[in-house]
Formats: sequence, structure tokens, C-alpha cells
Amino acid sequence: MHSLGVDIGGTKVALGVIDADGAIIERREYPTPGSPTGIDEVIVAAYRELAERHAIVSMGLAVPGLVSSDRETVMFAPNVNYRNYPIAARIRTLIDDEVPVLVENDANAAGWAEYALGAGDGRDMLMLTIGTGVGGAVVLGGQVLRGAHGAGAEVGHLQIVDGGLTCGCGQQGCFEAYASGTALERMAREAVGRGSAASARLQAIAAVDGAVRGKHVALAAAEGDTLSLDLLDRLGEWIGRGAASLAAVLDPAVIVIGGGVSTVGDPLFTGIRRGFSRHLTGGENRPVAPIIPAAFGNEAGILGAADLARAAANAAPALA
Ligand code: BGC
Ligand code: NA
Ligand code: ZN
Repeated sequence: MHSLGVDIGGTKVALGVIDADGAIIERREYPTPGSPTGIDEVIVAAYRELAERHAIVSMGLAVPGLVSSDRETVMFAPNVNYRNYPIAARIRTLIDDEVPVLVENDANAAGWAEYALGAGDGRDMLMLTIGTGVGGAVVLGGQVLRGAHGAGAEVGHLQIVDGGLTCGCGQQGCFEAYASGTALERMAREAVGRGSAASARLQAIAAVDGAVRGKHVALAAAEGDTLSLDLLDRLGEWIGRGAASLAAVLDPAVIVIGGGVSTVGDPLFTGIRRGFSRHLTGGENRPVAPIIPAAFGNEAGILGAADLARAAANAAPALA
């Protein structure tokens, strides 16, 4: 009995067939289409194909935005064009109600996987996902914080710079505008645009694709490129600074960092840990949560979505 986990991101839609032990037995990935209905089509086509080979009994959708309390609708997504979109009902209709469909915020889904099966290990946890946006999951006392309307833990939109950069959500100065993969690309393009000798390596790697992307920074950093290592360090510092504000409120036992950008590892984590200790109130005089990478890297979203959907399907009353 398998559950299908779907992670809808700003750049790609990832799907994984997950078995009862939480293992990914088949995986698919597609570029994110520009419209909500286009995304539905990609999901449904992949589901149909995967369902021919696997006994799929539930589907969980991790979406990059605010999810309604009934976990049916994406109310708003800053980086994908969802505005009060009843995604669960749409998908159920398109698959002729073959399996139950549940929607969860992408970072909450990832946070759930890390809490229950991964790096969080059942401890009170703050998770940040660093990708196109910055997502947050807060799990306290075994409960995922959803807030009164389902839209809690939107940490990417903490206001951290007065009159700062414009965010995908329309506000200015959001944490996400400084601490996301999108922010990394912006910093990298600015650095390359200045055309100094220091950016030659990054420019050469990016030349194949015509534009500097986060993955180019990661590749160049892995080769030891000084500029790219510095960009990741600066991004990390911003992430750490936001994490310090959040820790001041939540006092978590552990802080887990996930999302695509987190897979670069140390060059980012060094900056995160430094930014965190610089900005955490009471720093040296209090217990401080360790900052650790997600156990499931960028797969936490599909794993968590599949697990939540499976649990909901099992809890539902069986048909008489
Ligand atoms: C959205 C969150 C989402 C995060 C990561 C943010 O822009 O507001 O809902 O979890 O991006 O995708
Ligand atoms: Na969240
Ligand atoms: Zn914002």
C-alpha cells in the first residue's frame, strides 16, 4: 500500500511513490508549469502513469503557500500563481476520486517528515526550508503549528529590513527576500554583473545556461570558488539571523535546515551558525538549539506529504 507525495515548488514539481516504511520507491520531477491548472495536469498525468505500476491509496500535496484550515485550498502562494485555489477538489475530480487527496503547506510537510522520521527525532523543532522561498515548520509537543486559519509559521515573511527588497508576496523587507535561493541568485547576478575577476569562474559555469542560477553557485563553491563560497556564507548569515529571531520566540530544542539550497552543506551552515549566535538574545547565557541539516535533504516535502495523506486515509472511516 503506497502513498503518493507531491511537492509543488517554484521551479519544479517532484513526485514520489512512498511505501509503508517511508522509502521512496519511484520518483518523478517536472518543471513547474506557469498556471495552477497546468500544475494539476502534470500531477494527474504522473499519478495515472505511476498508479499503473503501484498500489497508490492516498495522495498528499505539499504546496508553497498558505493552506486553508480544512486542508483543501491554497489561499495564497507568493511564488506560484495560486489565489484561493481549491486544489484538492480539482485533483480529486481529475482522478475520478480514485484516492483521497490532502493538501499541506510544503514546509509543514517537510517539517513533519523531519520531526517524525528524520533529523528532528521527536524533539520540539523549528525547520526552515531554503528554496525559491523560505518556508517554516514549527512542531511543538508533537503538533504542527498551523495557526487559527491554517496560515501560521509563514516565517519567510517576517519583516526584517525596513523598506527593504520587494518579496514575491508583495511586501518589502521580508526574510525570504534575503535568505532564499532567489536571494542567492540575485546576489550572484549582482556579483557577476560587476564583472570583477573574482566572478570569472561563476560566470564561466553559468554561461551554459545563459543566466546565473543557484545551482551554478553550488557547483562553483564545490570547486572552491571564493566568490561562490562567500555568497553562500552571506546567505547563511541572513538565514541565521532570521533563525535567531524565531528562536527568541519559540526556544526550540533543534533547528533543522532543509530545501534545495541546504544541500550545499558546510559553506552555508557555517554562515547560518555564525549569524544565529551573533543575533540570538542571551546567546552565551542560555541553552542554544543545534542547527542541523535535514535528514531527507530536499525529499522531505514528498515524504511528509505522503505520510500525512496516508495517516489521514487510515483514520477515515472505512466504507461499509
Ligand atoms: C510561502 C510559504 C512556503 C515557502 C516555501 C513562502 O514564500 O509563503 O508558504 O512554505 O515559501 O515554499
Ligand atoms: Na509552514
Ligand atoms: Zn514576503
